[in-house]
Amino acid sequence: MIVAGVMSGTSADGINVALVRLTASSRSRAGTPGLHLLAHAEYPYPKHVRRAVLAAMNSTKASVADLARLNFLLAELYADAVLATQRRFHFKAELVGCHGQTLYHQGEPARFLGRKLAVTWQTGEGAVVAARVRVPVVSDFRPADMAAGGKGAPLVPFLDFLLYRDRRAGRIVQNIGGIANFTAIPANASPQRVLAFDTGPGNMVIDAVTHRLFDKAYDRDGRIAGSGAVLDNVISDVLRGPFFRRKPPKTAGREQFGREFTQEFIRRCGRVNKRDIVATATALTARSIADAIRRFVVRRTATYRDFIVSGGGASNPTLMAMLANELRPLGLQIRSSDEFGLPAEAKEAAAFALLAFQTWNRKPSSLPSATGAKRPAILGKISYA
Ligand SMILES: Nc1ncnc2c1ncn2[C@@H]1O[C@H](COP(=O)(O)OP(=O)(O)O)[C@@H](O)[C@H]1O
Ligand SMILES: [Mg+2]
Repeated sequence: MIVAGVMSGTSADGINVALVRLTASSRSRAGTPGLHLLAHAEYPYPKHVRRAVLAAMNSTKASVADLARLNFLLAELYADAVLATQRRFHFKAELVGCHGQTLYHQGEPARFLGRKLAVTWQTGEGAVVAARVRVPVVSDFRPADMAAGGKGAPLVPFLDFLLYRDRRAGRIVQNIGGIANFTAIPANASPQRVLAFDTGPGNMVIDAVTHRLFDKAYDRDGRIAGSGAVLDNVISDVLRGPFFRRKPPKTAGREQFGREFTQEFIRRCGRVNKRDIVATATALTARSIADAIRRFVVRRTATYRDFIVSGGGASNPTLMAMLANELRPLGLQIRSSDEFGLPAEAKEAAAFALLAFQTWNRKPSSLPSATGAKRPAILGKISYA
C-alpha cells in the first residue's frame, strides 16, 4: 500500500510529505511492516501563514474563529502538498497520515477546573484532506496515547525501532526539528527497552534569536553561529533549569522554549556581539543533547556506537560540528539518516505514513516505554473520503 505521510513540526517552517510503500508483516519479524520511501518533498509555508501559525502557538488570547479558520486552511495546504507530490513523482497514495500542526502540547498532567489533565491540540482538519486527496486520512495521532496515560509524544520511536534496531550496535536516533528528541535503542533490544524523550530545543531557540537579532527566519548553514563565540557560563546556567534535570520520559515545545524562554536567554547573554548569542543558542542545542545522553543514557549498562541524525538541524554544519565535539568523548559516531535510506528531512513524514498504516490495520503504534503510557494504543482518527 502506498501511504502519504504529512508532517509540519513545531518550527512552523512548512510541510514535509513522504510517499512510502508499506507492506504488512514482512518475512523478518511477525507483525513488523516493511517500509520503503518512494519520494519526498518539502513545501515552505507562505510567510503570512507561518506568521499566523506562530501567532496562534504563542498567543494566550487567539480568537476561536481564527483557530477554526486555521484548522481548515492548513488542511487545504496539506492536501495541496500531497497532490503536488503525487503529480511530481507519479505515485498515488491510497491512505494519508497527517500529523497536523501542533498549536498546544502539555504532556504533563496539570490541574484545570478541578481535574488533572494532560492535553494536546493538532490542527489541520482530516475530513478536508480526505475530501481533497480522495483517500482516507488518519489524523490526530497524539490524544489516544494521552488517554492511555502517556505524554502523547514522542511517536517517531515506533519508526526508529523498526528501522534502526541492530543486533550488535546500540544506536541513538536523534531528530533535530524545532525541538530535539532522541530514541536510544540498545543492541538487540525489545521495544520495552527503548528510551526516547525530548532533550530540549532543537532549532527553535536558534531560529528565534536569529529572527530577533538578524531579522532572518533561520541561521542558514550555521554561518552566523560559526562566526560567533559561545558563552559557556550562560549554557551552564540554562542547563541547570528544571526541564533539563527532570527524568525522562518528558516532552517539550514552544510552551518551554518559545518566546519567553528566548527573551530570557537573550537577556542572560547580556551586552555582547549579536553573533555570540546565535553561537550560544546553537551550542545550547548541542550541549543539551550530549548532556541528556550523559545523564540518562550512557550511565545505563548498554553501550552505544552510532548516532543517527535527522531533521532540519542536520543541515546546520556549525551545529553538527559542535555536536560531534560533544559526542566524541562518549564514543559516539555521527551518521546521517540518509545513509539508512531515509533522508534527514523525510524521516518524520515517513513516520506518520507508517503510523497511519498501523491504524488502518487496527494495530497500535505507540511505544509505552517512550511516551509513558500504560499500554500501546491504536493512534489517530480516520476520515473517509
Ligand atoms: N541549511 C540550513 N541551515 C541551517 N538550519 C537549517 C537549514 N535547513 C533547515 N534548517 C533548520 O531546520 C529547521 C526546520 O527543521 P524541521 O526538521 O522541519 O523541524 P520541524 O519538524 O520542527 O518543522 C529550520 O527552521 C531551520 O532552523
Ligand atoms: Mg518542518
